[in-house]
Amino acid sequence: MTQQKTLEICERIARLKQERDAVILAHYYVDPAVQAAADYVGDSFYLAKLAVSLPQQVIVLCGVEFMGESVKLLNPAKTVLLPEPLADCPMAHMVERATVEAARAEYGDDLAVACYVNSTVEIKSWSDVCVTSSNAVKIVSELPQRHVLFIPDRNLGRYVAEQVPGKHIILNKGYCPRHEDVSLDELLALKAEHPHAEVLAHPECTAAVLEQASYIGATSGIIARAEASEAEEFIVVTVRGVLHELERRCPGKRFFFTKTPPTCRDMDMVTLEKVAACLETGSGEVAVDAAAAPQAKLTLDRMLEYAAR
Ligand code: 13P
Ligand code: SF4
Repeated sequence: MTQQKTLEICERIARLKQERDAVILAHYYVDPAVQAAADYVGDSFYLAKLAVSLPQQVIVLCGVEFMGESVKLLNPAKTVLLPEPLADCPMAHMVERATVEAARAEYGDDLAVACYVNSTVEIKSWSDVCVTSSNAVKIVSELPQRHVLFIPDRNLGRYVAEQVPGKHIILNKGYCPRHEDVSLDELLALKAEHPHAEVLAHPECTAAVLEQASYIGATSGIIARAEASEAEEFIVVTVRGVLHELERRCPGKRFFFTKTPPTCRDMDMVTLEKVAACLETGSGEVAVDAAAAPQAKLTLDRMLEYAAR
């Protein structure tokens, strides 16, 4: 898109925001042009928490479906718009009800079902508490139950289990295809090329990749670490969209990605034109299943409560 065209769309978005009493939230993984046009940019926990305190009536969520659903669950009276409603995180569906029921039958009241926020409304409604990658360790360690079924992500679940050895964590088979596909060979080659670079990785990566990291954390943690570190060079093992905020917050520092950089095709579906279009027409309005919503909301409320302790 030409600079002139980008400018025109941004002006249109600014005008529509005023007319519709709208605010734009974007995840760090979406197109840099969308991040630049947003009022707030952050990780999935920040966006969910922030949405509760915003005065505007319309919230445009530039991210994937579960993020829009979380905002809607927490703000049922507001209109939540997804610029691209088909942008859906594949991991959000990767658990079966039978897995949850079997764990509940086996461990009874001494089991908590901890659900990564990357999950559908229905899956949240089977659960006890939600977590994100930035608060999962804290929340799981504070749960009163000794047994924790962690759904859907096996990689974040395994990472939490390592950090909270006092709990018995039961893993499920879900995973993020983008983070699982990171090649260990490509990472090792990059480390050999940049031996002084710090390796910052997202906990959705495999154990073999995380073993190579000097820092493991959510997207917000990765950015904060790069900002605070004395190092000048970083190998970043998460979706490439995060580079926009890294460069903005860390001028002069250098960031490297594996030869096949992780990209999220669902996040990539969110474009500036679609942001303008949903503001114009009100398309992409999020509706959550009325039967599942109350229990799903409770899991998010509990997350916010635990995280604030
Ligand atoms: P964050 O919680 O770190 O923003 O991650 C969201 C996500 O989808 C990671 O793949
Ligand atoms: Fe889902 Fe992975 Fe994309 Fe995050 S990066 S939204 S976990 S597919």
